Amino acid sequence: METVVSGIRPTGNLHLGNYYGAVKNFLKMQENYNCYFFIADYHSLTTHPHPADLHGNVRQILAEYLAAGLDPEKSTIYIQSDLPEVAELTLLLNMNAYLGELERTTSFKEKARKQPDNVNAGLLTYPVLMASDIIIHQASKVPVGKDQEQNLEMTRKFANRFNRIYEVDYFTIPQPFNFGESLIKIPGLDGSGKMGKSEGNGIYLAEDPKSIRKKVMKAVTDSGPTEPNSPVTEPIQNLFTLMEVVSDQAVLDQFKEDYAKCTIRYGDLKKKLAEDIINFTAPIRERINAIAADDAYLRKVAEMGREKAHENAAKTLKEVREIIGFKPF
Ligand code: TRP
Repeated sequence: METVVSGIRPTGNLHLGNYYGAVKNFLKMQENYNCYFFIADYHSLTTHPHPADLHGNVRQILAEYLAAGLDPEKSTIYIQSDLPEVAELTLLLNMNAYLGELERTTSFKEKARKQPDNVNAGLLTYPVLMASDIIIHQASKVPVGKDQEQNLEMTRKFANRFNRIYEVDYFTIPQPFNFGESLIKIPGLDGSGKMGKSEGNGIYLAEDPKSIRKKVMKAVTDSGPTEPNSPVTEPIQNLFTLMEVVSDQAVLDQFKEDYAKCTIRYGDLKKKLAEDIINFTAPIRERINAIAADDAYLRKVAEMGREKAHENAAKTLKEVREIIGFKPF
């Protein structure tokens, strides 16, 4: 069975866009692949989270993924910092990662621009740490969005370079996992563009009904169709797209027909959309809260994942050390 690795940044809560994007794909993958999903808490240190927040962030995102359906019996779910082998492999790979190529990485340049007072070495070597995450499990597939394509390209480069320098065919060269057409882009509530954390236009899985209603009622619309069968504008299409995922087809059809006849009332559309979003997210939210309060369960999941992931990582490290030439006396 092919091996898949994916890292999850412990920043912020899951929103509907994440759910219909990354999460749904993870749920599909865990049925057919040997999956390693981990919370990338080493990576999160590049932005200097306060020690009092770090564990809580990891815990929340773990609870949310479990509530959304990641299954610790099917996948290996672990915390990155539970695998010191990842740090060791990063140190070793760093010796063959060059300053020039690291500085040219788009994500490095972007972060250096965004946080000019904190351009730390961890930001620079972020792609090396990510490469270690992936090749330590000999992954052949990595699900990546557009923003991570270059990082995966770097992983392939570092893995190939290791194989070439040491004249071995050791590391598996990972391929991007392509979801093709199956990926639904969930729009935000601000009239244009997709749902995102930084855009502040999202609905969170853990959000309470009152807050969901308030956000949906404030969603951007337009001044309404003035002629029958006029083309649907972007803000309204966005609300229809959200309905497509949470509402019954008949409900969506009715509002589309009302739009075409110029009898649509956006207030009614939003009310219905808000209720359908709440119906969809309520059980997930309940599970998130139950899991987040269950110390024993979270500990068990983390421990199970750590054991499985560690076994694999330790084997890789042992072999890598031999290839490099470290020997016991
Ligand atoms: N860099 C990824 C992100 O920002 C997270 C990540 C870390 C990752 N290590 C990984 C993703 C390994 C895939 C594989 O989203």
